[in-house]
Amino acid sequence: MCGIIGIASNKSVSTNIINSLKKLEYRGYDSAGLATLNKNEINEKKCSGRVEQLEKILFKSPTEGNLGIGHVRWATHGIPNEVNAHPHSSEIVSVVHNGIIENSTELKNQLEKKGKKFKSQTDTEVITLLLTEELKTKNPLQAVQDTLAKLEGSFALGIIFKNFNNIIIGARRGSPLAVGYSNNENYLGSDSYALKSMTNKISYLDDGDICLLTKDKVEFYDLKKNKINKKVLILSEDKNIAQKGDYKNFMSKEIFEQPITTKNCINEYIDKERDEINFFNFPLDPKDINKIVLIGCGTAYHSCLVAKYWFENFTSLPVETDVASEFRYRNLRFNKKNLYIFVSQSGETADTSAALDLCKKNGAKTCSIVNVVESTIARNSDWTLPIHAGPEIGVASTKAFIGQMLLLYILALKISFLRNDLEKKDYQLKIKNLKKLPDLLTKCLKSEDKIQLVAKDFLEAKGSMFLGRGLSFPIALEGALKLKELSYLHAEGYPAGEMKHGPLALIENGLPVIIVCPNDKYFHKTVSNMQEVIARGGKILLITDSNDSVINENIRFTINLPKIDESLTPFLSTIPLQLLAYHVALLKKCDIDKPRNLAKSVTVE
Ligand code: F6R
Repeated sequence: MCGIIGIASNKSVSTNIINSLKKLEYRGYDSAGLATLNKNEINEKKCSGRVEQLEKILFKSPTEGNLGIGHVRWATHGIPNEVNAHPHSSEIVSVVHNGIIENSTELKNQLEKKGKKFKSQTDTEVITLLLTEELKTKNPLQAVQDTLAKLEGSFALGIIFKNFNNIIIGARRGSPLAVGYSNNENYLGSDSYALKSMTNKISYLDDGDICLLTKDKVEFYDLKKNKINKKVLILSEDKNIAQKGDYKNFMSKEIFEQPITTKNCINEYIDKERDEINFFNFPLDPKDINKIVLIGCGTAYHSCLVAKYWFENFTSLPVETDVASEFRYRNLRFNKKNLYIFVSQSGETADTSAALDLCKKNGAKTCSIVNVVESTIARNSDWTLPIHAGPEIGVASTKAFIGQMLLLYILALKISFLRNDLEKKDYQLKIKNLKKLPDLLTKCLKSEDKIQLVAKDFLEAKGSMFLGRGLSFPIALEGALKLKELSYLHAEGYPAGEMKHGPLALIENGLPVIIVCPNDKYFHKTVSNMQEVIARGGKILLITDSNDSVINENIRFTINLPKIDESLTPFLSTIPLQLLAYHVALLKKCDIDKPRNLAKSVTVE
């Protein structure tokens, strides 16, 4: 998704803008640009493609100036090319923008009727032209306030002005925006990660806020135009945050560090000596909970689907799951005794955040499971449970998925115990088994050699299917999503029992079919579904912890997983699926850490 950086300094800023844009690359983007103010002239440089390309342009033709804004763009309005890249500048103002202006067509028509000419196909240029008009009679702050009043949609903005050599204005409605502080330098950033290499002192803008930055001071104004103060937060230090070490890319590092991130999370929430979970400050007494509602998007939603089975198996509670983009528009009956759980790696996903806001407006109790503790979703929920996975840089989510499932598992156990749904001895046994998880994940990672062979089968294939039942059904969905997003190959995830209701028609000679089939209560049923696929020529990759001899016939590859408590199998079967997506993408020479059209932090609807 788009990313914003702004720097007001007493020295040249373009190198630091480039460095910060590189930090924002993880969000996924297709063009980049910057604008600085030098000798009262706006200098704009932009390109399609990577920040590296922008850096080359700047190398040939350097851009001076002690004040500037930069942007990485993920196309929404208009194709990804140089003209549509941000900033969008007129003679007197330059704008970078995250989000979508929903009434841009209407505003564009009005401006065109007044004879204004547009250079790009973007919605952002509307803001540039409106501001250019307003600035004829108003100072920058008033011009921004009056322009914002005309805009519908969600956005974050960074703006610089000719004739106002020392100010950057930032504005937030919907899309996140942060300010960073340092000596003789202040910053604007669409997330704290981009600012972390320059400062650990951060404030977040709330919805409707505007900030005015110079190198020496930052002022904040709220929606009612009142000057306000903001809390300054000191960010925790993340060691080695952007280091790939010996790994080829961040994704492989993140896959292979899952035993460690799992251990960290277990140590954080589970008592080392006793078999007990340390959770406090429940927003709602677990005994009073009526229903659990789990909400997320993409991979985070898949972790909710897995958790539905855990909550149903361990507790007596009814459970609902929904993708946030559906939940936020449903005609819901909120109940103050329901616990609404929001799962999000970034904590900034626009749909998840809007769904959370909806719950809050309706007085419902909310819990968030996030990786980024300073995020909007974490700050806005009644109770936050961080997954402690460390920064996830690869756009496709891996270690965050394992972390989300882990916290949901721990939460389901604790709630069931506090409600007396699970007996103490069963509760403690489950915790004991959970402590074995990091070592078992390490064993699963050893499947990599075999997966590399399996991956070759996918190069010629028209598509693929991922099948599972029970807890393995959402894992099949996640396996299919990982393959699609990384290698751009078609993949369907399906409940194995649904195959005969239509999708069997897709099975033909040589189609790779991945069967996630742990030795659980569904085992024999899934094996029968697999036979139906084999009978139609499907090429089977079986992922199982069973050594049942029945299953060895006509199977192309089997990945053997270590044995574990049935309820923990989703963690283990996820690993070979992540490795599969990774190796297929590697063979196809895809951009592993930045797959096409994907964003790390989906801050538009
Ligand atoms: C898939 C992926 C996306 C995200 C989704 C939600 O690999 O990364 O599907 O899971 O965009 O993002 P968060 O978890 O940040 O809310």
